[in-house]
Amino acid sequence: MSGNPFREGMLADSPTDPCALIIFGGTGDLARRKLFPCLMHLAREGRLSDKTVFLCVSRRPLDETSFRNDVIESARKFAPGSVPDEEFAKSFAARIFTVSDDTSFANLSKQLADLASLGGPRNHLFYLSIPPTGYAPTIHGLGQAGLANPQTGAWSRIIIEKPFGRDLKSARELNRAAAEVFQEEQIYRIDHYLGKETVQNILVLRLANTLFEPVWNHHYVDHVQITAAESLGVEERAQYYEESGALRDMIQNHLLQILAMIAMERPASLAAEAIRDEKRKVLEAVRPLEDISSLAVRAHYAAGAVTGKAVPGYLEENGVSKNSRTETFSALKLHIDNWRWTGVPFYLRTGKRLPKRVTEVAIVFRKVPHTVFAQSPVDKLDQNVLAIRIQPNEGISLKFEAKLPGHALHVRPVDMDFRYGTSFGGRISDAYERLMLDAMIGDQTLFARRDSVEEGWRIVQPVLNYWSSDKSEPLPQYVAGSWGPAEADAMLAADGRRWRKL
Ligand code: BG6
Repeated sequence: MSGNPFREGMLADSPTDPCALIIFGGTGDLARRKLFPCLMHLAREGRLSDKTVFLCVSRRPLDETSFRNDVIESARKFAPGSVPDEEFAKSFAARIFTVSDDTSFANLSKQLADLASLGGPRNHLFYLSIPPTGYAPTIHGLGQAGLANPQTGAWSRIIIEKPFGRDLKSARELNRAAAEVFQEEQIYRIDHYLGKETVQNILVLRLANTLFEPVWNHHYVDHVQITAAESLGVEERAQYYEESGALRDMIQNHLLQILAMIAMERPASLAAEAIRDEKRKVLEAVRPLEDISSLAVRAHYAAGAVTGKAVPGYLEENGVSKNSRTETFSALKLHIDNWRWTGVPFYLRTGKRLPKRVTEVAIVFRKVPHTVFAQSPVDKLDQNVLAIRIQPNEGISLKFEAKLPGHALHVRPVDMDFRYGTSFGGRISDAYERLMLDAMIGDQTLFARRDSVEEGWRIVQPVLNYWSSDKSEPLPQYVAGSWGPAEADAMLAADGRRWRKL
Protein backbone atom coordinates (compact mmCIF):
# COMPACT_ATOMS: atom_id res chain seq x y z
CA MET A 1 0.00 0.00 0.00
CA SER A 2 1.39 3.40 -0.85
CA GLY A 3 1.83 5.62 2.16
CA ASN A 4 -0.11 8.77 2.69
CA PRO A 5 0.28 10.49 6.02
CA PHE A 6 -2.81 12.53 5.44
CA ARG A 7 -5.17 9.69 4.77
CA GLU A 8 -8.71 10.83 4.65
CA GLY A 9 -12.05 9.19 5.02
CA MET A 10 -12.51 5.48 4.79
CA LEU A 11 -9.04 4.13 5.18
CA ALA A 12 -8.28 6.03 8.35
CA ASP A 13 -11.65 5.30 9.90
CA SER A 14 -12.11 1.63 9.10
CA PRO A 15 -10.57 -1.01 11.36
CA THR A 16 -7.18 -2.38 10.44
CA ASP A 17 -6.54 -5.99 9.36
CA PRO A 18 -6.81 -8.41 12.27
CA CYS A 19 -3.34 -9.11 13.58
CA ALA A 20 -1.41 -10.55 16.48
CA LEU A 21 0.75 -7.81 17.95
CA ILE A 22 3.63 -9.60 19.61
CA ILE A 23 5.43 -7.32 22.04
CA PHE A 24 8.91 -8.35 23.13
CA GLY A 25 9.42 -6.53 26.42
CA GLY A 26 5.69 -6.28 26.95
CA THR A 27 6.14 -6.05 30.70
CA GLY A 28 8.45 -3.03 30.39
CA ASP A 29 7.84 0.61 31.06
CA LEU A 30 7.13 1.65 27.48
CA ALA A 31 4.50 -1.05 27.04
CA ARG A 32 2.70 -0.27 30.28
CA ARG A 33 2.89 3.52 30.09
CA LYS A 34 2.43 4.01 26.37
CA LEU A 35 1.77 1.05 24.12
CA PHE A 36 -1.18 -0.50 25.95
CA PRO A 37 -2.93 2.80 26.73
CA CYS A 38 -2.52 3.76 23.06
CA LEU A 39 -3.93 0.42 21.94
CA MET A 40 -6.87 1.03 24.26
CA HIS A 41 -7.59 4.36 22.61
CA LEU A 42 -7.39 2.72 19.20
CA ALA A 43 -9.71 -0.07 20.32
CA ARG A 44 -12.23 2.41 21.72
CA GLU A 45 -12.20 4.40 18.51
CA GLY A 46 -12.99 1.23 16.58
CA ARG A 47 -9.70 1.30 14.68
CA LEU A 48 -8.60 -2.20 15.65
CA SER A 49 -10.24 -5.28 14.28
CA ASP A 50 -12.15 -7.16 16.99
CA LYS A 51 -9.90 -10.11 16.22
CA THR A 52 -6.65 -8.28 16.94
CA VAL A 53 -4.85 -9.71 19.97
CA PHE A 54 -1.77 -8.77 21.97
CA LEU A 55 0.90 -11.28 22.95
CA CYS A 56 3.45 -10.25 25.55
CA VAL A 57 6.70 -12.07 25.33
CA SER A 58 8.77 -11.91 28.47
CA ARG A 59 11.80 -13.55 29.92
CA ARG A 60 10.21 -14.50 33.23
CA PRO A 61 7.07 -16.61 33.49
CA LEU A 62 3.97 -14.47 33.80
CA ASP A 63 0.64 -15.18 35.35
CA GLU A 64 -1.78 -14.12 32.63
CA THR A 65 -4.53 -12.91 34.93
CA SER A 66 -2.31 -10.74 37.09
CA PHE A 67 -0.51 -9.38 34.02
CA ARG A 68 -3.84 -8.40 32.48
CA ASN A 69 -4.81 -6.62 35.71
CA ASP A 70 -1.45 -4.91 35.79
CA VAL A 71 -1.89 -3.58 32.24
CA ILE A 72 -5.28 -2.12 33.09
CA GLU A 73 -4.07 -0.59 36.36
CA SER A 74 -1.01 0.95 34.68
CA ALA A 75 -3.21 2.44 31.96
CA ARG A 76 -5.49 3.97 34.60
CA LYS A 77 -2.44 5.43 36.31
CA PHE A 78 -0.40 6.68 33.37
CA ALA A 79 -3.09 7.49 30.83
CA PRO A 80 -6.25 8.51 32.61
CA GLY A 81 -9.09 8.33 30.13
CA SER A 82 -7.77 5.28 28.31
CA VAL A 83 -9.96 2.93 30.37
CA PRO A 84 -13.48 4.37 30.34
CA ASP A 85 -15.27 1.66 32.34
CA GLU A 86 -15.12 -1.88 33.72
CA GLU A 87 -16.79 -3.43 30.72
CA PHE A 88 -14.13 -2.02 28.38
CA ALA A 89 -11.36 -3.04 30.81
CA LYS A 90 -12.61 -6.62 30.81
CA SER A 91 -12.98 -6.96 27.08
CA PHE A 92 -9.58 -5.36 26.39
CA ALA A 93 -7.83 -7.49 29.02
CA ALA A 94 -9.27 -10.64 27.44
CA ARG A 95 -7.30 -9.86 24.28
CA ILE A 96 -3.95 -9.96 26.09
CA PHE A 97 -1.98 -13.20 26.20
CA THR A 98 1.40 -13.98 27.67
CA VAL A 99 4.26 -16.00 26.27
CA SER A 100 7.14 -16.74 28.59
CA ASP A 101 10.72 -17.39 27.55
CA ASP A 102 11.69 -14.83 24.96
CA THR A 103 14.31 -17.13 23.49
CA SER A 104 11.99 -19.95 22.50
CA PHE A 105 10.92 -18.88 19.05
CA ALA A 106 9.65 -22.35 18.19
CA ASN A 107 7.26 -22.08 21.12
CA LEU A 108 6.11 -18.65 19.94
CA SER A 109 5.66 -19.94 16.42
CA LYS A 110 3.53 -22.81 17.71
CA GLN A 111 1.35 -20.46 19.77
CA LEU A 112 0.80 -18.25 16.75
CA ALA A 113 -0.06 -21.27 14.59
CA ASP A 114 -2.52 -22.50 17.25
CA LEU A 115 -4.10 -19.08 17.39
CA ALA A 116 -4.57 -19.02 13.61
CA SER A 117 -6.01 -22.55 13.59
CA LEU A 118 -8.66 -21.39 16.07
CA GLY A 119 -9.71 -18.64 13.66
CA GLY A 120 -7.38 -16.01 15.18
CA PRO A 121 -5.30 -13.56 13.14
CA ARG A 122 -2.68 -14.78 10.68
CA ASN A 123 -0.97 -11.41 10.34
CA HIS A 124 1.92 -10.80 12.69
CA LEU A 125 3.29 -7.51 13.93
CA PHE A 126 6.39 -7.96 16.11
CA TYR A 127 7.36 -5.10 18.37
CA LEU A 128 10.89 -4.95 19.80
CA SER A 129 10.65 -2.99 23.02
CA ILE A 130 13.64 -4.61 24.68
CA PRO A 131 17.21 -3.50 25.44
CA PRO A 132 19.01 -3.00 22.12
CA THR A 133 21.44 -5.86 22.73
CA GLY A 134 18.42 -8.11 22.24
CA TYR A 135 17.46 -6.75 18.79
CA ALA A 136 19.75 -8.79 16.54
CA PRO A 137 19.25 -12.12 18.40
CA THR A 138 15.48 -11.63 18.41
CA ILE A 139 15.39 -10.80 14.72
CA HIS A 140 17.56 -13.82 14.03
CA GLY A 141 15.31 -16.04 16.18
CA LEU A 142 12.19 -14.86 14.36
CA GLY A 143 13.88 -15.64 11.06
CA GLN A 144 14.92 -19.12 12.20
CA ALA A 145 11.38 -19.89 13.31
CA GLY A 146 10.07 -18.84 9.88
CA LEU A 147 8.10 -16.00 11.42
CA ALA A 148 9.43 -13.36 9.04
CA ASN A 149 7.77 -15.14 6.12
CA PRO A 150 4.04 -14.71 6.25
CA GLN A 151 1.60 -17.33 5.05
CA THR A 152 -0.05 -16.64 1.72
CA GLY A 153 -2.43 -13.73 2.01
CA ALA A 154 -1.08 -12.68 5.39
CA TRP A 155 1.64 -10.25 6.44
CA SER A 156 4.50 -10.13 8.91
CA ARG A 157 6.09 -6.86 10.02
CA ILE A 158 8.48 -5.74 12.70
CA ILE A 159 8.61 -2.48 14.67
CA ILE A 160 12.04 -1.68 16.09
CA GLU A 161 12.29 0.82 18.94
CA LYS A 162 15.10 3.27 19.36
CA PRO A 163 18.00 3.38 19.97
CA PHE A 164 18.77 2.03 16.53
CA GLY A 165 22.47 1.42 17.11
CA ARG A 166 24.82 3.51 19.21
CA ASP A 167 27.01 4.72 16.37
CA LEU A 168 27.22 4.47 12.59
CA LYS A 169 28.95 1.09 12.66
CA SER A 170 26.46 -0.59 15.00
CA ALA A 171 23.50 0.96 13.16
CA ARG A 172 24.82 -0.49 9.90
CA GLU A 173 25.30 -3.88 11.52
CA LEU A 174 21.78 -3.84 12.89
CA ASN A 175 20.39 -2.80 9.53
CA ARG A 176 22.28 -5.68 7.92
CA ALA A 177 21.04 -8.14 10.53
CA ALA A 178 17.46 -6.96 9.99
CA ALA A 179 17.82 -7.11 6.21
CA GLU A 180 18.99 -10.72 6.37
CA VAL A 181 15.63 -11.70 7.81
CA PHE A 182 13.09 -9.06 6.82
CA GLN A 183 12.52 -7.06 3.64
CA GLU A 184 12.76 -3.27 4.08
CA GLU A 185 8.97 -3.09 3.45
CA GLN A 186 8.50 -5.18 6.59
CA ILE A 187 10.71 -3.06 8.85
CA TYR A 188 9.26 -0.16 10.85
CA ARG A 189 11.96 1.81 12.71
CA ILE A 190 10.10 3.92 15.18
CA ASP A 191 10.92 7.55 15.86
CA HIS A 192 7.97 8.65 17.90
CA TYR A 193 8.50 12.32 17.06
CA LEU A 194 7.39 11.55 13.51
CA GLY A 195 4.05 10.39 14.88
CA LYS A 196 3.36 13.67 16.67
CA GLU A 197 0.48 15.61 15.08
CA THR A 198 2.49 18.82 15.00
CA VAL A 199 5.40 17.16 13.21
CA GLN A 200 3.02 15.71 10.62
CA ASN A 201 1.58 19.19 10.19
CA ILE A 202 4.94 20.56 9.04
CA LEU A 203 4.27 19.20 5.56
CA VAL A 204 0.76 20.62 5.47
CA LEU A 205 2.02 23.99 6.63
CA ARG A 206 4.63 24.00 3.89
CA LEU A 207 2.71 22.41 1.05
CA ALA A 208 -0.92 23.42 1.49
CA ASN A 209 -0.32 27.15 1.91
CA THR A 210 0.75 29.74 -0.62
CA LEU A 211 2.32 31.89 2.02
CA PHE A 212 5.26 29.99 3.36
CA GLU A 213 6.94 27.93 0.64
CA PRO A 214 8.07 30.97 -1.42
CA VAL A 215 10.04 32.30 1.55
CA TRP A 216 11.26 28.88 2.74
CA ASN A 217 14.85 29.32 1.54
CA HIS A 218 18.13 31.17 2.01
CA HIS A 219 16.80 34.34 0.36
CA TYR A 220 14.45 34.93 3.28
CA VAL A 221 15.43 32.66 6.14
CA ASP A 222 18.24 33.88 8.38
CA HIS A 223 18.51 30.70 10.45
CA VAL A 224 16.47 27.89 12.00
CA GLN A 225 16.40 26.85 15.67
CA ILE A 226 15.13 23.47 16.77
CA THR A 227 14.78 23.06 20.53
CA ALA A 228 13.63 20.06 22.54
CA ALA A 229 13.76 21.03 26.20
CA GLU A 230 12.76 18.77 29.06
CA SER A 231 12.33 19.68 32.71
CA LEU A 232 12.69 16.05 33.78
CA GLY A 233 16.08 14.68 34.71
CA VAL A 234 17.41 11.24 33.93
CA GLU A 235 14.74 9.65 36.20
CA GLU A 236 14.97 5.86 36.49
CA ARG A 237 16.88 5.46 33.25
CA ALA A 238 20.47 6.11 34.32
CA GLN A 239 21.63 2.74 33.07
CA TYR A 240 20.42 3.47 29.54
CA TYR A 241 21.25 7.17 29.63
CA GLU A 242 24.83 6.74 30.79
CA GLU A 243 25.46 4.78 27.58
CA SER A 244 23.56 7.25 25.48
CA GLY A 245 23.64 10.96 26.38
CA ALA A 246 21.64 13.76 24.80
CA LEU A 247 23.22 13.64 21.35
CA ARG A 248 22.39 9.97 20.80
CA ASP A 249 19.12 10.07 22.73
CA MET A 250 17.48 13.06 21.05
CA ILE A 251 19.51 14.70 18.28
CA GLN A 252 20.60 11.74 16.14
CA ASN A 253 16.99 10.69 15.74
CA HIS A 254 14.18 13.04 16.79
CA LEU A 255 15.76 16.40 16.05
CA LEU A 256 17.35 15.33 12.77
CA GLN A 257 14.05 13.83 11.63
CA ILE A 258 12.36 17.17 12.38
CA LEU A 259 15.13 18.98 10.54
CA ALA A 260 14.51 16.74 7.55
CA MET A 261 10.77 17.54 7.56
CA ILE A 262 11.54 21.27 7.73
CA ALA A 263 14.32 21.34 5.17
CA MET A 264 13.48 18.67 2.59
CA GLU A 265 12.41 19.50 -0.94
CA ARG A 266 8.79 19.10 -1.97
CA PRO A 267 8.09 15.43 -2.62
CA ALA A 268 6.56 14.57 -5.98
CA SER A 269 3.70 12.83 -4.18
CA LEU A 270 2.69 11.77 -0.71
CA ALA A 271 3.79 8.20 -1.30
CA ALA A 272 5.91 6.96 1.58
CA GLU A 273 8.96 6.45 -0.61
CA ALA A 274 8.68 9.89 -2.23
CA ILE A 275 8.76 11.54 1.18
CA ARG A 276 11.47 9.27 2.53
CA ASP A 277 13.61 9.88 -0.58
CA GLU A 278 13.49 13.63 -0.01
CA LYS A 279 14.36 13.23 3.65
CA ARG A 280 17.34 11.10 2.77
CA LYS A 281 18.54 13.66 0.22
CA VAL A 282 18.44 16.56 2.63
CA LEU A 283 20.18 14.61 5.39
CA GLU A 284 22.84 13.63 2.87
CA ALA A 285 23.36 17.31 2.17
CA VAL A 286 24.17 18.11 5.80
CA ARG A 287 27.77 19.24 5.77
CA PRO A 288 30.16 16.88 7.58
CA LEU A 289 31.12 18.43 10.90
CA GLU A 290 34.78 19.30 11.11
CA ASP A 291 35.69 22.01 13.59
CA ILE A 292 33.73 20.27 16.33
CA SER A 293 34.68 22.58 19.20
CA SER A 294 32.94 25.50 17.51
CA LEU A 295 29.97 23.52 16.17
CA ALA A 296 28.96 21.26 19.05
CA VAL A 297 28.37 21.85 22.74
CA ARG A 298 27.85 19.37 25.54
CA ALA A 299 27.30 19.71 29.28
CA HIS A 300 25.52 18.04 32.14
CA TYR A 301 23.36 19.52 34.85
CA ALA A 302 24.58 20.56 38.26
CA ALA A 303 22.23 20.70 41.24
CA GLY A 304 19.65 23.45 40.97
CA ALA A 305 15.92 23.99 41.04
CA VAL A 306 13.31 23.20 38.42
CA THR A 307 9.89 24.80 38.76
CA GLY A 308 10.75 25.78 42.31
CA LYS A 309 11.85 22.30 43.41
CA ALA A 310 15.46 21.57 44.37
CA VAL A 311 16.97 18.77 42.28
CA PRO A 312 20.34 16.99 42.44
CA GLY A 313 23.03 17.30 39.82
CA TYR A 314 23.48 14.59 37.17
CA LEU A 315 26.51 13.12 38.91
CA GLU A 316 24.47 12.64 42.09
CA GLU A 317 21.64 10.79 40.35
CA ASN A 318 21.13 7.11 41.22
CA GLY A 319 23.03 4.86 38.89
CA VAL A 320 25.24 7.60 37.43
CA SER A 321 28.99 7.21 37.75
CA LYS A 322 30.65 9.95 39.84
CA ASN A 323 33.05 10.75 37.02
CA SER A 324 30.56 10.36 34.21
CA ARG A 325 31.18 12.38 31.06
CA THR A 326 27.73 11.74 29.67
CA GLU A 327 26.06 14.90 28.41
CA THR A 328 22.50 15.80 29.38
CA PHE A 329 22.57 18.86 27.13
CA SER A 330 23.76 19.04 23.60
CA ALA A 331 23.68 21.69 20.89
CA LEU A 332 24.83 21.53 17.28
CA LYS A 333 25.23 23.98 14.45
CA LEU A 334 24.59 22.39 11.09
CA HIS A 335 24.71 23.59 7.51
CA ILE A 336 22.85 22.07 4.61
CA ASP A 337 24.87 22.29 1.44
CA ASN A 338 22.19 22.62 -1.19
CA TRP A 339 20.63 25.34 -3.30
CA ARG A 340 17.78 26.09 -0.94
CA TRP A 341 19.68 26.36 2.32
CA THR A 342 23.12 27.59 1.44
CA GLY A 343 24.45 29.84 4.21
CA VAL A 344 21.51 29.19 6.57
CA PRO A 345 22.61 27.67 9.88
CA PHE A 346 20.37 25.17 11.64
CA TYR A 347 20.91 25.30 15.39
CA LEU A 348 19.72 22.26 17.34
CA ARG A 349 19.61 21.97 21.12
CA THR A 350 18.20 19.56 23.61
CA GLY A 351 18.61 19.10 27.32
CA LYS A 352 17.26 17.60 30.47
CA ARG A 353 16.52 19.65 33.61
CA LEU A 354 15.89 22.81 31.61
CA PRO A 355 13.26 25.21 32.97
CA LYS A 356 10.33 23.61 31.16
CA ARG A 357 9.21 21.00 28.69
CA VAL A 358 8.94 22.58 25.28
CA THR A 359 9.75 21.48 21.76
CA GLU A 360 9.78 24.16 19.10
CA VAL A 361 11.00 24.82 15.59
CA ALA A 362 11.64 28.49 14.88
CA ILE A 363 12.15 29.76 11.36
CA VAL A 364 13.84 33.11 11.90
CA PHE A 365 13.59 35.37 8.86
CA ARG A 366 16.06 37.96 7.61
CA LYS A 367 15.56 41.57 8.53
CA VAL A 368 14.13 43.97 5.96
CA PRO A 369 16.96 45.53 3.96
CA HIS A 370 15.85 49.12 4.63
CA THR A 371 13.20 51.01 6.61
CA VAL A 372 11.64 54.42 6.34
CA PHE A 373 10.71 54.44 10.04
CA ALA A 374 13.10 56.88 11.64
CA GLN A 375 12.33 55.64 15.15
CA SER A 376 12.92 52.07 14.10
CA PRO A 377 16.05 51.66 12.06
CA VAL A 378 16.68 48.24 10.63
CA ASP A 379 18.90 47.15 13.49
CA LYS A 380 16.13 47.93 16.00
CA LEU A 381 13.50 45.90 14.18
CA ASP A 382 12.84 42.38 15.36
CA GLN A 383 13.12 39.53 12.91
CA ASN A 384 9.93 37.82 11.78
CA VAL A 385 9.70 34.39 13.34
CA LEU A 386 7.48 31.48 12.42
CA ALA A 387 7.43 29.34 15.55
CA ILE A 388 6.06 25.82 15.29
CA ARG A 389 5.23 24.60 18.79
CA ILE A 390 5.58 20.84 18.60
CA GLN A 391 4.59 20.46 22.27
CA PRO A 392 3.02 21.39 24.61
CA ASN A 393 0.42 24.11 23.75
CA GLU A 394 0.59 22.73 20.23
CA GLY A 395 0.28 25.42 17.60
CA ILE A 396 2.05 27.90 15.38
CA SER A 397 2.73 31.57 15.88
CA LEU A 398 4.00 34.21 13.55
CA LYS A 399 5.86 37.15 14.98
CA PHE A 400 5.77 40.31 12.92
CA GLU A 401 6.10 44.04 13.38
CA ALA A 402 3.08 46.31 13.97
CA LYS A 403 2.48 49.98 14.65
CA LEU A 404 2.05 50.72 18.32
CA PRO A 405 -1.26 52.65 18.59
CA GLY A 406 -0.68 56.35 19.19
CA HIS A 407 0.31 59.52 17.40
CA ALA A 408 3.98 58.71 17.11
CA LEU A 409 5.09 55.98 14.74
CA HIS A 410 6.58 53.32 16.93
CA VAL A 411 7.02 49.76 15.72
CA ARG A 412 6.63 46.74 18.01
CA PRO A 413 6.64 42.99 17.43
CA VAL A 414 3.32 41.16 17.87
CA ASP A 415 2.20 37.53 17.55
CA MET A 416 -0.44 35.91 15.41
CA ASP A 417 -1.27 32.66 17.11
CA PHE A 418 -2.88 29.37 16.07
CA ARG A 419 -3.59 26.86 18.83
CA TYR A 420 -4.77 23.34 18.24
CA GLY A 421 -6.94 23.47 21.37
CA THR A 422 -8.80 26.59 20.25
CA SER A 423 -9.13 25.77 16.57
CA PHE A 424 -9.80 22.05 16.69
CA GLY A 425 -10.68 21.18 20.31
CA GLY A 426 -10.66 17.54 21.32
CA ARG A 427 -7.82 15.25 22.24
CA ILE A 428 -4.61 15.14 20.22
CA SER A 429 -3.81 11.48 19.84
CA ASP A 430 -0.50 10.14 21.09
CA ALA A 431 2.27 9.54 18.56
CA TYR A 432 2.32 5.83 19.41
CA GLU A 433 -1.35 5.45 18.50
CA ARG A 434 -0.68 6.81 15.08
CA LEU A 435 2.48 4.79 14.55
CA MET A 436 1.09 1.45 15.68
CA LEU A 437 -1.96 2.02 13.51
CA ASP A 438 0.25 2.84 10.52
CA ALA A 439 2.30 -0.32 11.04
CA MET A 440 -0.94 -2.32 11.06
CA ILE A 441 -2.09 -0.62 7.88
CA GLY A 442 1.32 -1.04 6.24
CA ASP A 443 2.16 2.64 5.86
CA GLN A 444 5.85 3.34 6.39
CA THR A 445 5.74 7.10 5.76
CA LEU A 446 6.23 8.07 9.38
CA PHE A 447 8.96 5.54 10.07
CA ALA A 448 12.68 6.06 9.55
CA ARG A 449 14.09 4.24 6.53
CA ARG A 450 17.43 2.45 6.66
CA ASP A 451 19.25 5.22 4.81
CA SER A 452 17.99 8.11 6.94
CA VAL A 453 18.91 6.33 10.17
CA GLU A 454 22.43 5.80 8.84
CA GLU A 455 22.60 9.41 7.63
CA GLY A 456 21.62 10.55 11.14
CA TRP A 457 24.55 8.60 12.57
CA ARG A 458 26.85 9.83 9.81
CA ILE A 459 26.06 13.42 10.86
CA VAL A 460 26.71 12.97 14.59
CA GLN A 461 29.57 10.47 14.36
CA PRO A 462 32.41 13.06 14.16
CA VAL A 463 31.03 14.68 17.31
CA LEU A 464 30.87 11.34 19.11
CA ASN A 465 34.46 10.61 18.05
CA TYR A 466 35.71 14.00 19.14
CA TRP A 467 33.94 13.86 22.48
CA SER A 468 35.13 10.38 23.28
CA SER A 469 38.74 11.36 22.56
CA ASP A 470 38.55 14.72 24.38
CA LYS A 471 39.07 13.97 28.03
CA SER A 472 41.11 17.06 28.76
CA GLU A 473 38.73 19.18 30.81
CA PRO A 474 35.83 18.55 33.11
CA LEU A 475 32.58 18.51 31.18
CA PRO A 476 30.88 21.94 31.20
CA GLN A 477 27.92 22.17 33.56
CA TYR A 478 24.70 24.12 33.70
CA VAL A 479 22.58 24.72 36.72
CA ALA A 480 19.45 22.56 36.67
CA GLY A 481 16.56 24.88 35.84
CA SER A 482 18.64 27.12 33.56
CA TRP A 483 18.63 27.11 29.76
CA GLY A 484 21.90 25.24 29.41
CA PRO A 485 25.61 26.04 29.52
CA ALA A 486 27.20 29.38 28.63
CA GLU A 487 28.99 27.56 25.78
CA ALA A 488 25.68 27.09 23.97
CA ASP A 489 24.95 30.82 24.17
CA ALA A 490 28.47 31.57 23.03
CA MET A 491 28.03 29.35 19.95
CA LEU A 492 25.18 31.56 18.72
CA ALA A 493 26.72 34.79 19.98
CA ALA A 494 29.75 34.08 17.77
CA ASP A 495 27.32 34.35 14.83
CA GLY A 496 25.63 37.47 16.25
CA ARG A 497 22.54 35.46 17.23
CA ARG A 498 20.69 34.33 20.37
CA TRP A 499 18.65 31.31 21.36
CA ARG A 500 14.98 32.11 21.56
CA LYS A 501 13.50 32.63 25.00
CA LEU A 502 10.89 29.92 25.37
C1 BG6 B 1 12.81 9.56 24.11
C2 BG6 B 1 14.07 9.76 24.90
O1 BG6 B 1 13.09 9.08 22.83
O2 BG6 B 1 12.13 10.80 24.00
C3 BG6 B 1 13.78 10.35 26.26
O3 BG6 B 1 14.73 8.52 25.06
C4 BG6 B 1 12.96 11.61 26.12
O4 BG6 B 1 14.97 10.63 26.97
C5 BG6 B 1 11.75 11.36 25.24
O5 BG6 B 1 12.54 12.00 27.42
C6 BG6 B 1 11.01 12.64 24.96
O6 BG6 B 1 9.82 12.33 24.29
P1 BG6 B 1 8.59 13.32 24.37
O7 BG6 B 1 7.59 12.72 23.44
O8 BG6 B 1 8.15 13.36 25.80
O9 BG6 B 1 9.09 14.65 23.93
